[in-house]
Amino acid sequence: MIDAKTTLLGIVGDPVEHSLSPQLHNYLFKRLNVNGRYLAFRVKPDALSRAVAGLDALGATGFNVTVPHKQAIIPLLDSLSPEAQALGAVNTVVRERGRLVGHNTDWIGFLEPLSANDVHIEAQHAVVLGAGGAALGVVYGLIRAHVGHISVVNRTLHKAQALAQHVRQRLNFKQVETLALDDNALGTVLRTATLLVNATSVGLWPHSDKIPISRDLLLPQLTVYDLVYNPLETQLLKAARAVGADTLDGLGMLIGQAVAAFSLWTGVDVPSDEVAKLRERLSS
Ligand code: ATR
Repeated sequence: MIDAKTTLLGIVGDPVEHSLSPQLHNYLFKRLNVNGRYLAFRVKPDALSRAVAGLDALGATGFNVTVPHKQAIIPLLDSLSPEAQALGAVNTVVRERGRLVGHNTDWIGFLEPLSANDVHIEAQHAVVLGAGGAALGVVYGLIRAHVGHISVVNRTLHKAQALAQHVRQRLNFKQVETLALDDNALGTVLRTATLLVNATSVGLWPHSDKIPISRDLLLPQLTVYDLVYNPLETQLLKAARAVGADTLDGLGMLIGQAVAAFSLWTGVDVPSDEVAKLRERLSS
């Protein structure tokens, strides 16, 4: 029931109409008896500050932030969590005692399916495809999970190098190297890796016939984790399964970041059986 005490949450982005977050959070509100509602707000860059001021003035409990606002939101907030500060990106804003605090739960969401599936990262070698905001969240998560070595692979090499520099200087993690996507050495690098993460948008609908790297490079010792969740079974994951590699799709991360945001807003921990039900609902 919506009443005078219902708290408002939502997602601010552009585009936002295909977001699964409203479904996801409203399901959690209902299942966990929290009196809140979550809406999607399409906000253009030039309207961001007004949108944030409006949500603040209306007393919204908080909101998610997505493309293209994850960095632009920062000057509009009162403070940042250490993680959001280290990443230079915010995906969750929480109103705490009248102040807007920026958090980042993307990296928590990324790690969640790895621990749930007993994929060990500590001291391992991980290969990350991509060098955008998603890739930085992945790399940050890997470092927090004590990965041994990271290879960042990107179509545009200088972006991979910029990410690696951020990682060395701001995150103080030195075991990072960069390669271009078409580098012949990629095959060699994958031989020592145990985890391959696709943090590019290659394979995303409507270009779902695309694969970010050649199928021939995939090896059975890898866990292949694709952040793309539309479609759930990407060409990369199909090819990985065909060589006998373990796979993880992008829905686990989406749910993981949402559950972490939900807990920040409500103080309620989402039980694992509810997470499983949510996954079933969103993948059917
Ligand atoms: P996000 O916030 O999701 O990370 P982004 O910052 O736009 O989005 O990054 C998209 C990533 O996908 C980049 O690493 C991009 O590679 P470039 O830096 O070379 O642009 C990668 N990407 C997008 N389309 C690609 C394609 N067709 N082939 C290879 N990489 C692609």
